[in-house]
Amino acid sequence: MDEVRTLYPEAYKICQQFEIDQHKMEEIVLRMTREISMGLAKETHPRATIKCFTTYVQDLPSGRERGRYLALDLGGTNFRVLLVTLESESSVNIDGKTYSISKELMEGSGVKLFDFIAQCLSDFCKEHKLENANLPLGFTFSFPCKQQSIDNGTLVAWTKGFKADGVVNKNVVELLREAITRRGDLKVQIVAILNDTTGTLMSCAFHRQNCKIGMIVGTGSNACYVEKTSNVEMFPGYQNSSKPHMIINCEWGAFGDNGVLDFVRTRYDVEVDSHSINPKKQIFEKCISGMYMGELVRHILVELMDKDMIFKGVKSQTLQERGRFETRFITEIESDDPGKYRNAAMVMDNLGIRTSNEKDLMCLRYICETISTRSAKLAACGLVCLIRKMNVKDLSVGIDGSVYRFHPHYHRLLMQNMNLLLNGTVRYELVLSEDGSGRGAALIAAVCAKD
Ligand code: BGC
Repeated sequence: MDEVRTLYPEAYKICQQFEIDQHKMEEIVLRMTREISMGLAKETHPRATIKCFTTYVQDLPSGRERGRYLALDLGGTNFRVLLVTLESESSVNIDGKTYSISKELMEGSGVKLFDFIAQCLSDFCKEHKLENANLPLGFTFSFPCKQQSIDNGTLVAWTKGFKADGVVNKNVVELLREAITRRGDLKVQIVAILNDTTGTLMSCAFHRQNCKIGMIVGTGSNACYVEKTSNVEMFPGYQNSSKPHMIINCEWGAFGDNGVLDFVRTRYDVEVDSHSINPKKQIFEKCISGMYMGELVRHILVELMDKDMIFKGVKSQTLQERGRFETRFITEIESDDPGKYRNAAMVMDNLGIRTSNEKDLMCLRYICETISTRSAKLAACGLVCLIRKMNVKDLSVGIDGSVYRFHPHYHRLLMQNMNLLLNGTVRYELVLSEDGSGRGAALIAAVCAKD
């Protein structure tokens, strides 16, 4: 760091703007707590940024769920169809196929998107001779949805680069049923719609009874947690439910949409936001998640290159293009051993910059570390906020998403920052949740089938 400060003072100055000290972290936790309370309360819900949607999932798995279930997983550029067989607590068999969602499908007509989903489901079922099996299906749909019941969810807004028309304000379960009916070649029962965070929590809770939070740091970011039903005012039965708990899908990506995070945002964040498909929306997500981290690094690099402060004044045309610095490059660069720059050199080589010396690469790594550290700090604030809100002293947190899964230091950074705020008062474990979207969907379908 000292070397960057001396050799690249401009880069150092830019990175300083991304620093979040403990005092600011506490402030973020406080502000988030307020927004969550607003989301939960009927009176303030309409103007809350963190909506805290009711998931209608009130039971965690017992570990004794069994059977065959279908799961659909739509939440990014990959769409998956899965056949999940719960054989025993230690044996869950998942057979699945991944299909890629083209930009045209993401941005085109909603009917075409759902027809494509139904077609993939039908192909998969035919391959597995399941077209008439009428299996229960859990639909993991990882976008903000207002739910009326376990199998009814209205899309509130698209995120993560989607903007297919005719879907916002519609019940997506109905859109899926209609697409299946149009084909007429398939019998399934859609029993539940869920968010990936809920699937992640359920999947983790299958093995750990004390799992109380599910978090995703991938293309997007979000978390869900276990709330007391009596606090969930948006749930019609909140005062007299026989079940004491309800999983709440926070949709924390929208935290900051009303300006409360402006005190930590930088002009690079503003820039990335203004060129996104949903400006002024998902502000917290844009500081944290994989869809934006690489772009933040790119903006910083472009500015340094414009000022001839890095790469010997060479200008890279490629780096001028949006999206060209992928978040996986950050993971690769930070996977180099300290003082080594093998991956870093390869990444820059691929971007057409062959003039970088080791010092430049050191500076590049520092910029990447700055962005991933800030992401982890903000996610840590979110987790601490939920832990304090639940007032639990012992819990597991199920986590998934490409950033958490692949970044070499993310787990450590999360813990380091959570420890700073929790100060030894809570025993917690962060657990990589295996295939939450698939296994979690099956578990919810199984738990629903019990009712
Ligand atoms: C969506 C959430 C989702 C998260 C992680 C966000 O953009 O709004 O519903 O859980 O991404 O996939």
